Amino acid sequence: MEVKYKPKIFVHSWLSDDLLLKLKKNFNIDHHDTKDSILAGKDLLDRVLDADGILVQSSLIDKKLIESCPNLKVVSNVGVGFDNIDVEFCTKRGIQVTNTPGILNDAVADMSMALLLAVARRVPEGDKLVRTGGFKANFYHILWGADLKGENLGIIGMGSIGQEVAKRALPFGLNIKYHNRNRLSENIENSLNAEWMSLIELLQSCRFIIILCPLTNETKHLITIKEFQAMNNNSFLVNIARGPIVKESDLIIALEKKLISGCALDVYEFEPDYDIKLAKMDNVVLAPHAGSASVKTRKGMVELAKKNIEEFFLSKDVSNPVNTLN
Ligand code: DGY
Repeated sequence: MEVKYKPKIFVHSWLSDDLLLKLKKNFNIDHHDTKDSILAGKDLLDRVLDADGILVQSSLIDKKLIESCPNLKVVSNVGVGFDNIDVEFCTKRGIQVTNTPGILNDAVADMSMALLLAVARRVPEGDKLVRTGGFKANFYHILWGADLKGENLGIIGMGSIGQEVAKRALPFGLNIKYHNRNRLSENIENSLNAEWMSLIELLQSCRFIIILCPLTNETKHLITIKEFQAMNNNSFLVNIARGPIVKESDLIIALEKKLISGCALDVYEFEPDYDIKLAKMDNVVLAPHAGSASVKTRKGMVELAKKNIEEFFLSKDVSNPVNTLN
């Protein structure tokens, strides 16, 4: 497939040399590698002004930026979540938005379990203790954590990633409870041994809770002090979805007042900023939005985002549309 006019694509992402070369065949490419620096505000705006397409990894594509790009026809997001993009405004403007679903399910589900185990079994605390010379003897009382077997795991957001987490959690002996806008089919519920619950029931009855729902107007601040008060004080929260789903200031109050036993966070309300109080608490595990960061998955995500943009320009048959255009 070759086109005569080469649309201009601004690539704001890491991309292998091989993929870049392939893109250059059909497109006029301006590339900013986000390995070391991420453009924002005017710096980003200046680069995208005359772009026909943007391939972007998590940068804010808001109304102001979209309005400044008269030629823009497609935004290909490297990621499944697209809350960084004003999709409604893109649709109004006839701009196609695409994302990379499916490919990261396993990596994010693995990381969800890693964070759950890390906070339950106090893995970072042990690491810190050994590194700082605190491992003086095989003390019997050292770092007692929480058992998983027989406990309830509450999954908020039972999409394809949530279901992968459930599959991994079952062999640990966890009982699967979930909250989702739409209930799963009876077949899927049975295969995962999963029970639907209202949010409040889930918070009250689960020792481990993992947030995996998308960030929308409805899920912003889904978890505030009211929800923490409903949780048991021996419970643990894992947020690997989006930071603003949990009101961070209320999470800190909940931890300080011991309304919950601990939490593991991969995402933050004001990312990349976070309240330094979190870093000072031993029962808090912190990760840098790395849920999908495995070699195979991250390489696969950019490859899919590249394929999405090629499909838009070269075949108009888009496999992973976020919005529907008239
Ligand atoms: C996603 O796919 O939404 C992830 O957060 C990106 O790493």
